[in-house]
Amino acid sequence: MKLDKFPKHQLTFSGPTPIQHLKRLSDALGGKVQLYAKREDCNSGLAFGGNKTRKLEYIVPDAIEGGYDTLVSIGGIQSNQTRQVAAVAAHLGMKCMLVQENWVNYHDAVYDRVGNIELSRIMGAECRLDNAGFDIGIRPSWERAMEDVTKSGGKPFPIPAGCSEHAKGGLGFVGFAEEVRQQEQELGFKFDYIVVCAVTGSTQAGMVVGFAADGRADRVIGIDASAKPEKTRAQILRIARHTAELVELGSEIRDADVVLDTRFGGPEYGLPNEGTMEAIRLCARMEGMLTDPVYEGKSMDGMIQMVRNGEFPEGSRVLYAHLGGAPALSAYSYLFRDG
Ligand SMILES: Cc1ncc(COP(=O)(O)O)c(C=O)c1O
Repeated sequence: MKLDKFPKHQLTFSGPTPIQHLKRLSDALGGKVQLYAKREDCNSGLAFGGNKTRKLEYIVPDAIEGGYDTLVSIGGIQSNQTRQVAAVAAHLGMKCMLVQENWVNYHDAVYDRVGNIELSRIMGAECRLDNAGFDIGIRPSWERAMEDVTKSGGKPFPIPAGCSEHAKGGLGFVGFAEEVRQQEQELGFKFDYIVVCAVTGSTQAGMVVGFAADGRADRVIGIDASAKPEKTRAQILRIARHTAELVELGSEIRDADVVLDTRFGGPEYGLPNEGTMEAIRLCARMEGMLTDPVYEGKSMDGMIQMVRNGEFPEGSRVLYAHLGGAPALSAYSYLFRDG
């Protein structure tokens, strides 16, 4: 596999992200399965980082090389992606234009003022609120933003939702798998399963390719949080196949290599269910580790329920990829008014 041939601009802290044993959570769930977390949620000093920061390391070299001066991106109002793009733009001395669409059917008095969007504004990004609903594809509002930057004399560099439609969007998480393999050598054991939240798809797609290198592609268990799993699944498969070609994996990504569990993503994108809320509280109270109601609370719920149902064989070691998202929590303050 050839990941090193692609230029990479360091945005995360140097060295691998830490892997932590979630001992109290494992014990609380019966102790038959040992849970670990790889902390992508605090992988960078750039506005808390997260999974997009790792992806952007392979995307921004083209922006720097090409002399672009404005990063343009899109997401929901509480998008983690746009906050990370805003931080990277500030760090690189570029401007930032963000389209923030109305992806989530959730109303909290200060939803469009606190959390991620607040941080993006503080970092100098122009945040354009747009009323369009949830969709992970390419949007007209985003194309308009690109045109407006050009009209005002700038050179816009497009970064699509979740970095996923970008040709190099899958590379960052190929690197994640390589990192895990090295950490496994130091730990002296291999993880049996890797649990990851999936929406726009390039995080899981990268992992599928990275873990395909040692025959573990289908040990990556995606937990859908889009509540439109057919679209997400198709996108993961497409990005994984494309990424496999880029890194010259040397083997095919099969349909069966993409495992996407659709049980935990409801009722819709951005809205937690009872299981999500319970998982967020349990993980926070057992480990002091924060997850959010849009993404990581859903994958945490999936992992917890699978342990409870005995779906992981006894003795399994499961690695939870914590992809970030906690900066959105304050936008959901009403949900946690009683803790
Ligand atoms: C915190 C968090 N977790 C999970 C995801 C899902 O990752 P992906 O869009 O690559 O599937 C995202 C972004 O969409 C995210 O911000």
